[in-house]
Amino acid sequence: MRFIRQTGSKIKRSQRVEFSFNGATYSGHMGESVAVALAANGIITTRIIHDGSARGAFCFMGSCQECILLVNGLRVEACQAVLVEGLTVQSIGSINGAPTSKGGKNA
Ligand code: FES
Repeated sequence: MRFIRQTGSKIKRSQRVEFSFNGATYSGHMGESVAVALAANGIITTRIIHDGSARGAFCFMGSCQECILLVNGLRVEACQAVLVEGLTVQSIGSINGAPTSKGGKNA
């Protein structure tokens, strides 16, 4: 399954898909970025760094690396990952003080 954004990717607003983030189920539009789907579900903080600062998507174009998450076990920029049915998305580091996955395979 390919979920990294490709030139010409289309968002299908008529098609809702479900995905999980840190074990909870959410929905979004097929083809939108994972970062946008999370924001649309009210999730703008995707991890907490060592000094307690909240981090999340910033540039939405693949440059800042602030949106790095594990998507189906791969470490990718959430703003560049295309939402499809059944994606498993996890924070890297910690969120709300609870430790999550420490990393993943690079694509
Ligand atoms: S929001 Fe900057 S790389 Fe994704």
